[in-house]
Amino acid sequence: MRLFFLVLFEMYTLSSVHAYPDGSVASACNTMLPNHPSFEPQTTTALYRVTVNRVACRPGDMITVTLESVNSIKFEGFMLQALPTSGKGAQGSFMAGDARLVRLHNCFNIEKSTISHSGPNEITQLEVMWVAPPSPAPSNITFCATIVRNYTEFWTMVKSPPILLSNSPTLAVNCLMMLFNILIALGLFRSSSLTLL
Ligand SMILES: *[C@@H]1O[C@H](CO)[C@@H](O)[C@H](O)[C@H]1NC(C)=O
Ligand SMILES: *[C@@H]1O[C@H](CO)[C@@H](O)[C@H](O)[C@H]1NC(C)=O
Repeated sequence: MRLFFLVLFEMYTLSSVHAYPDGSVASACNTMLPNHPSFEPQTTTALYRVTVNRVACRPGDMITVTLESVNSIKFEGFMLQALPTSGKGAQGSFMAGDARLVRLHNCFNIEKSTISHSGPNEITQLEVMWVAPPSPAPSNITFCATIVRNYTEFWTMVKSPPILLSNSPTLAVNCLMMLFNILIALGLFRSSSLTLL
């Protein structure tokens, strides 16, 4: 009897900290639901929010995505994807972070397109880095998270503000080009442009 309870307890704690064990991620790619049978997502306003450090990006740009508690209540699990506001499938890829905190998953045939917690941590804030996909069609994406407070309480589709993905060159490149043109106009690059010709 004691052993039974021990096993039951072990199963319970294991599943609560490994809300997305390896085997369950494939289906979680679509639903973003943790494997917590018989518990439904909360319908109340989430205790957590998802914020981003920019509102527009281009191929290869990095965005810092922050998951944080609104009122210092810790969370023990999460799953995060960048989803198009219209259409489906995770976009871009997350960068590897502290392996004690996060784990990357390949969803929708895109490497590292999904990130989740890796183990038993109770935290109030976490920053992850995301890299915009190469030459996307211009579209808006939203970072969508499932955030797990504990085995019974979790929220899904916690969203960041929308981010416009475009494929025009970055502002920095435009500025460099402009500077270069000015220098050429001033004749400073005459010799090198002559050798090019
Ligand atoms: C992205 O969203 C903004 C604001 O919601 C909207 O004005 C814009 O047309 C959208 N762009 C695309 C490409 O969906
Ligand atoms: C999860 O947190 C809520 C709110 O504190 C609590 O009522 C519930 O019992 C907790 N569930 C577990 C499994 O700890």
